[in-house]
Amino acid sequence: MTDKKPQTMGQQYGRRSWAEPWKIKMVEPIILKTLEERQQAIEEAGYNTFLLRSEDVYIDLLTDSGTSAMSDRQWAGMMLGDEAYAGSRNFYHLEEAIREYYGYQHIVPTHQGRGAEHLISQAVIKPGQFIPGNMYFTTTRLHQELAGGTFVDVIIDEAHDPASTHPFKGNIDLDKLQELIDRVGAEQIAYVSLAGTVNMAGGQPVSMANVKAVRALCESYNIRVYLDATRMAENAFFIQEREEGYASTPIAAILKEFCSYTDGAWMSGKKDNLVNIGGWLAVNDEAVFDKARNMVVIYEGLHTYGGMAGRDMEALAIGIHEMVQDDHIASRVNQVRYLGDLLESWGIPLVKPIGGHAVFLDARAFYPHIPQNQFPAQTLAAQLYIDSGVRAMERGVVSAGRDPETGDHRYPKLELVRLTIPRRVYTQAHMDVTAEAVMAVFEKREETRGLKMVYEPEYLRFFQARFEPLK
Ligand SMILES: Cc1ncc(COP(=O)(O)O)c(C=O)c1O
Repeated sequence: MTDKKPQTMGQQYGRRSWAEPWKIKMVEPIILKTLEERQQAIEEAGYNTFLLRSEDVYIDLLTDSGTSAMSDRQWAGMMLGDEAYAGSRNFYHLEEAIREYYGYQHIVPTHQGRGAEHLISQAVIKPGQFIPGNMYFTTTRLHQELAGGTFVDVIIDEAHDPASTHPFKGNIDLDKLQELIDRVGAEQIAYVSLAGTVNMAGGQPVSMANVKAVRALCESYNIRVYLDATRMAENAFFIQEREEGYASTPIAAILKEFCSYTDGAWMSGKKDNLVNIGGWLAVNDEAVFDKARNMVVIYEGLHTYGGMAGRDMEALAIGIHEMVQDDHIASRVNQVRYLGDLLESWGIPLVKPIGGHAVFLDARAFYPHIPQNQFPAQTLAAQLYIDSGVRAMERGVVSAGRDPETGDHRYPKLELVRLTIPRRVYTQAHMDVTAEAVMAVFEKREETRGLKMVYEPEYLRFFQARFEPLK
């Protein structure tokens, strides 16, 4: 028995159990390969879970990107695709949805998030400028660097400490931001790059108070604030849950208020927006819009499809509407928390509090005997696959890449493995199986050795690097 607030509409006051606000209409069979087959598969994949074939995976927690199950409404919307080259009606539905739920004026569609990152970076960064932000994200920072900018991390210190239980670990440290402004001058700052939630910090949220304060500071220096809105609906859930004054504010209203403190956003529709492909850039400034709309025709497609089919834009518009339903977002975040709480109760080291889209295992604490240059998180992800066919992702030294100045590895404080939960795809039983797999790998931790990197591509190496076990 519990008197806690119900997690979803299916839970009645005083009862323990709650359930997802959907039922399954179509299923996709999955299989668990034998241990020998899994060992061979990971060896052939160079101990990089990105290089595994999906058929060799049992429970796929590599990413929540493009892996959502669409609703019957979204599939019905796919049949309404207007595949005209120019002026597709689905584009206007998408534009309406973004204006209604995010509140931005001008919309440029893109094939996915990094397409939008490319456009905003090229449109507003001048070579030599700085882009302060609440922790880097791989593709975001790379596009900022390719445009000639330098990313500067101004997130609060707690974000770098896996054990800190700060409720808004995604917050910007205003003193760090002020210090950068004083040091380089406001005109040398292209914009503030604010992400809600912060993927690399463990899916941690930004508070409404923080975005308001960032806005106020930036306004006084005429600095723009652009939002990575990829998981902003999940961020809104944490505000509703944790921030005073928002407990009875609907997710949709929280999202819109948050966005109102920013000048625009880029979006990977493959996450919050519940589609398998798609993205967008949205801004309020007409001059920035003009540049981005002109550039999109070079890199993505005409400005009324941007690399998406008409049917994709329809599914995206419907996904935005579904994303802000309070029941959906509560069950989504609570499923992640269910897995995290279970693992924590068994003593598995992980990032706290549990984030919005994933449980992040702390590979340093998991394997204290494996130094960071032997890739503890990469090792843990490989071991988890070998044990149970569960696919996770490295978020540590491999993802951080090399420092462009020194050529050395960047050694991030956080050396993590991400168990990322796709939206509306797995049940709580899959979470139980996953938790037991992690426990089994934990029990064998002392006999586990690290890896050496034997192939390293130039850009975003975590996608394609190859490794071999150390003897
Ligand atoms: C926070 C964040 N920003 C941007 C992106 C890039 O989006 P996409 O993968 O759609 O290119 C991602 C994708 O993982 C992300 O998590």
